[in-house]
Amino acid sequence: MSFKKKILCIGAGYVGGPTMAVIAAQCPEYKVTVVDVNAERIQAWNGDHLPIFEAGLLEVVRQARGRNLFFSTDIPGGIREADIIFVSVNTPTKTFGHGAGMASDLQHWEKTAHQIVAHSDRAKIIVEKSTLPVRTAEAMERILQENKKGIRFDVVSNPEFLAEGTAIQDLLHPDRVLIGSRPGESGRRAAEEVAAIFAHWVPAGKIIATNLWSAELSKLVANAFLAQRVSSINSVSALCEKTGADVDEISFAVGSDHRIGPHFLKASVGFGGSCFKKDILNLVYIARSYGLEEVAGYWESVVRINEYQQERFVRTIIDEMFHTVVGKKIVLLGFAFKADTGDTRESPGIHVARKLLEERALLAVSDPQALGNARRDLAGFSGQVEFEPDPYRAAVEAQALAVITEWRAYCDLDFARMFASMRKPAFVFDGRNILDHHRLFEIGFNVFPLGKPAMTHFS
Ligand code: UDX
Ligand code: ADP
Repeated sequence: MSFKKKILCIGAGYVGGPTMAVIAAQCPEYKVTVVDVNAERIQAWNGDHLPIFEAGLLEVVRQARGRNLFFSTDIPGGIREADIIFVSVNTPTKTFGHGAGMASDLQHWEKTAHQIVAHSDRAKIIVEKSTLPVRTAEAMERILQENKKGIRFDVVSNPEFLAEGTAIQDLLHPDRVLIGSRPGESGRRAAEEVAAIFAHWVPAGKIIATNLWSAELSKLVANAFLAQRVSSINSVSALCEKTGADVDEISFAVGSDHRIGPHFLKASVGFGGSCFKKDILNLVYIARSYGLEEVAGYWESVVRINEYQQERFVRTIIDEMFHTVVGKKIVLLGFAFKADTGDTRESPGIHVARKLLEERALLAVSDPQALGNARRDLAGFSGQVEFEPDPYRAAVEAQALAVITEWRAYCDLDFARMFASMRKPAFVFDGRNILDHHRLFEIGFNVFPLGKPAMTHFS
C-alpha cells in the first residue's frame, strides 16, 4: 500500500508511543513508524504487553498496528523514508558536569540530530516533541544545516501536553496543539504540514501557531504553573496542621473563585513525574543563565516546597511513631507518582521510602502497576523492603500505612481487616487525603491526614 506521507518518531517512550499511536489511528493514509534504540521496548510495543500502562492505549495501538503503525529498531531506514520526523527521546536533568541537577541532558537528543543528518538524502521536517530548553531548536537547526549534502531541514516545535494516566484522552481532546515555527515561507509551510496531521481530529481553533521560542517556552511555563499550584496548596497544608484549618476546605473555597479554578489544588505528599521538576529546573537554569536571579529564585522555590513537603511527610511518620521507626514495618500504599500509571519517575515514594529505609524501617511497598519500577528504584535495600501487590498481605504485622499514590481502589479497602492483622498502636499517614479518616479512627487507627487535624487514641 502506498501512503500519502511517512511520519517517523524517534523515541518510543511515554510521549512518542501514545502520540504516534493516536496519530496513526486518526490518519490511516499516513505511515507512522516509531523507532527506538531499546530493542526490548520495541518488542514490547509489538506485543500485547506494552511497555507503558495507559488506559485505552492497547486498543488504539491494535487499531493501527500492522496497518499504518509500525515499531522498529531500524533507525537509519526510518529516517531515510520519512517526510516528517518527530523527536521524542528522553531529555532528563543532567546528573554530571556543568548544570548538573538543573539543566537538561541533551546527549540523546543531539545524537538524534546527527543521525538524522547522516541518513537523510532529501528535505525533511523535524518536529521537537521532547520537552527541551528554550532555543534548543536553534542548536538542532545548526547541526542539521551543517550537512554537506545541501539538504533543507525545517525545525518545528510541537510540545506535548499529555498527562500520564489520561494520555489517550488528552491526545484525542487536547486543550490546544502548539506549533512553533520559523518566520518565512519555508517555516510556515512546515508548520502547516504538521498542523495538517492534527487537523484530522483537532478543531482548527485549537491548533495554535506561534514562533519557535514561544512554543518551547510555553511548555515549560505551563508545567511550572501547574506545579506552582501544587506547591502553593502544599505550603498551605503545613499551615493548616498548625492552625486547625482543613486544607481540603481551603482548596474548595479558593478554587470556587472562577478566576482561580478548582484544578491542581489537591494537597499531596509532593508532585512527581518526569516533567514538573525537570521543566522548572530548566526554567530556573535558563533564567539564571540570562542573569535573571529573581526570576530563577521565584521558580526554584516551587521545587524547594515540594522537597519540603516530602521531607515533612517522613518527619511526621517518624515523630508520631515515637521518634523511631527502627525495625517497624510500614506499608507504602502506592509507589507510582500518581494514580493510573506505573511510572515512578521522581515519585515522592522514592524519597519517602529511602528516608524510612535509612531510618532502618522495614517497608512493604504495594502498588497495582508500579512494583517493577519500584524494585529498580529501591535496588540495594534488599532484606529491608518487600514488594507486595496485595495490600492485605502487605499489612500483616505492619505498624503503619502510608498513602503515597491516590489509587481509587485504596478507598475501598477493608481497613478493619487490615487493622486486625497489624501491630498496635497502628497508624495511617494519608499523603493524598483520599481515605475516610473518621472511619479509620473509629476502627482504631491513629490517623494523620495532610493539612487537617490528626486523630489519635492517645490521651
Ligand atoms: C504533567 C502535565 O500535567 C502535562 O501537561 C505535561 O505534558 C507533563 O507533565 P504528568 O506529569 O503526567 O503531566 O502528571 P500530572 O497529572 O500533571 O501530575 C503531576 C504531579 O502532581 C503528580 O505527582 C500528581 O500526583 C501531583 N498533583 C497533581 C498533586 O499533588 N496535586 C494536584 O492537585 C495535582
Ligand atoms: P518521554 O517521557 O520523554 O517519552 P522516555 O524515557 O519514556 O521519555 O522515552 C524516551 C525514549 O527515547 C526511550 O525509549 C529511549 O530508549 C529512546 N531514545 C533515547 N535516545 C535515542 C536515540 N538516539 N535513538 C532512538 N531512541 C532513543
